[in-house]
Amino acid sequence: MSNSSNSAAADAEGASSSSKVEIVRGLNEDLAREYKAIIQYVVFSSTLKGAEYGDIAEQLKKHASQELAHALEVARQIDYLGGDPTVKGKEAEYSQESRKMLEIDLRAEQETIKSYRERIRQAEHIISPLALGIQ
Ligand SMILES: [Fe+2]
Repeated sequence: MSNSSNSAAADAEGASSSSKVEIVRGLNEDLAREYKAIIQYVVFSSTLKGAEYGDIAEQLKKHASQELAHALEVARQIDYLGGDPTVKGKEAEYSQESRKMLEIDLRAEQETIKSYRERIRQAEHIISPLALGIQ
């Protein structure tokens, strides 16, 4: 291996490890958001009031389990990337009004989708320098 290819490989490795740190930081934000979602779905599914919300409360209960599965997966990914999964959740929101609870959930889901899109973009940056290093 020549010096120039060594330094190209080192550059690729450097770029990928700093990108990894960025992804781990982002994934920990995602994990904290999943913890918050678990809390909100547990509380909202038990406190939604009104006949018109009966089915929705059941759905929210299922979402609580789904969010736990997401949290477990995100924590596993963080560990895989060499990071430490956070133990702190983002602060959960609450309202005594059923309609407000659903608005809180909707806003949280929209934020989550936006964040995971960002994480996908970051992951693409990790993959390309690694691919260059292999050539
Ligand atoms: Fe989730």
